[in-house]
Amino acid sequence: MRRYRSNVEREQSSGMSGSDSVSMQAAICEEARTTAAPKELVAQNDMTDYRIELGDSRERLVRHPIYKLVNSPERMKVFMEAHIWAVWDFQSLLKAVQQQLSCVTIPWTPTPDAEARRLINEIVLDEESDELPNGSFASHFELYLRSMEVAGAATGPMVGMIEKIKAGVDLSVALLDPSIPTESREFVNRSFSIINSGSSHRIVSAFTYGREDVIPDMFRQFVVRLATYNPEIWGQFRFYLERHIEHDDEHHGPVCRRIVATMCGNDPIKWAEASEAARLALEARIHLWDTLAIRLTAI
Ligand SMILES: [Fe+2]
Repeated sequence: MRRYRSNVEREQSSGMSGSDSVSMQAAICEEARTTAAPKELVAQNDMTDYRIELGDSRERLVRHPIYKLVNSPERMKVFMEAHIWAVWDFQSLLKAVQQQLSCVTIPWTPTPDAEARRLINEIVLDEESDELPNGSFASHFELYLRSMEVAGAATGPMVGMIEKIKAGVDLSVALLDPSIPTESREFVNRSFSIINSGSSHRIVSAFTYGREDVIPDMFRQFVVRLATYNPEIWGQFRFYLERHIEHDDEHHGPVCRRIVATMCGNDPIKWAEASEAARLALEARIHLWDTLAIRLTAI
């Protein structure tokens, strides 16, 4: 089994496999083909040798043309209207991880790994109730939704879905609403198929490698662009992105990778299953970006 690559291996391979892997996406949009992500973005998080096999999925995601395609406020709004669904289902994936690693049922009983319990509760604290610059608190989902409102992006489909869920409508039914972008609906369904698998190491691996490990490398590319936009309109969204980069890079990513390693131990079957879940999560995001990229080129 090939291991999760070291910095050196990733640097050595990034030029060739990166350009190969984006060839399909480059065909989608000529204007994005000439702009690949800097090498340091790909090398950012790969500090430890874990027995996770991601293939070229992570690199294809980090080098996706979409980061260059979102090059105007109008395209940024369309991007947000599709991406908010991944921000929302992240919270469910997070809760699924918390269910696996800590006790969230009554009566309470201690789960086996107290350190993992501590770590996931810390991550939930950050993601579900982060402290904002003005001293108030909000989940990162709520922060994103407010950013959309300030930027003038449409929040109606997401707000409507939340209301349906609160009213007891089944998620599979709520997701049928035609106002939900097709690619976003598909992404959410893929996330919930992992959540509903009930397999702890698969769920934690999808959360780790499909989200926490790779998000900083994706979001950094937007932060650079947003710095050139009106801060009164885009400052809140930029704060959201920077907050995620800071948390995931410095704390969440390393912690989650350690939890996956502990869960899989020396069991090669668990490592293989965790790797498969990680790749599926990354490929789901690539598919989301592929489809959204096609829509963005029409704007
Ligand atoms: Fe995070």
